[in-house]
Amino acid sequence: LAGRHALVTSGPTREAIDPVRYIANRSSGRQGHAIAAALAALGARVTLVSGPVHLPDPPGVSMRRVESARDMLAACEAALPADIAVCAAAVADWRVAKVAPGKIKKTGGRPPALELAENPDILATLSAAGNARPRLVIGFAAETDDVVDNAVAKRRKKNCDWIVANDVSPASGTFGGDRNTVHLVTESGIEAWPPLSKDEVAMRLARRIGEHLAAAR
Ligand code: CTP
Repeated sequence: LAGRHALVTSGPTREAIDPVRYIANRSSGRQGHAIAAALAALGARVTLVSGPVHLPDPPGVSMRRVESARDMLAACEAALPADIAVCAAAVADWRVAKVAPGKIKKTGGRPPALELAENPDILATLSAAGNARPRLVIGFAAETDDVVDNAVAKRRKKNCDWIVANDVSPASGTFGGDRNTVHLVTESGIEAWPPLSKDEVAMRLARRIGEHLAAAR
């Protein structure tokens, strides 16, 4: 992957409610960080755009630390052009429509209702970036049910090239865990990968990316 620029998103996003509270999710960032490390190990120049995680920076990658989905999108757009984009972040689908400027206080009345607004979809935005679209755009599909069917539909809906589908049902132990059982959905079909560590998934994906770009050269 020498001479290639890879953009990777990782981790959760945080969506502020007020200055002290936020909405987030259980993503650890382990899979996205492992992918960034694997791409760098194969020679790519890597920009890793990450939400807040408790992980060391992978060696040899250029970090962009962000909080919200909108910050993550802006950092991704600023990092273009890229040959490869891998969107592994668990981006919050919604943000709070009006962030309170001060801490929301209990008033003794009804609890506050949070009105939500939809966040931009970073994967779909990169896939639709026209001339700036990375040659290979890869998304993840975190699913609890009908994992493969949902991933195939998500690939079409978001116009990306490949989807790495993973089972995030509580029984799978994926979120926060070290192992991942994935299917790779590409233009030419569906591959079931064996249960692997997140590092192994990352290295296998990075090798596949290298082979794909070499074949297309
Ligand atoms: N994604 C993104 N920006 C968003 C939401 C999701 O870039 N605002 C990306 C994720 O990084 C992942 C893919 O889209 O690569 C799929 O995320 P997932 O949570 O599985 O799907 P959603 O789009 O949230 O769809 P749904 O909640 O309906 O399953």
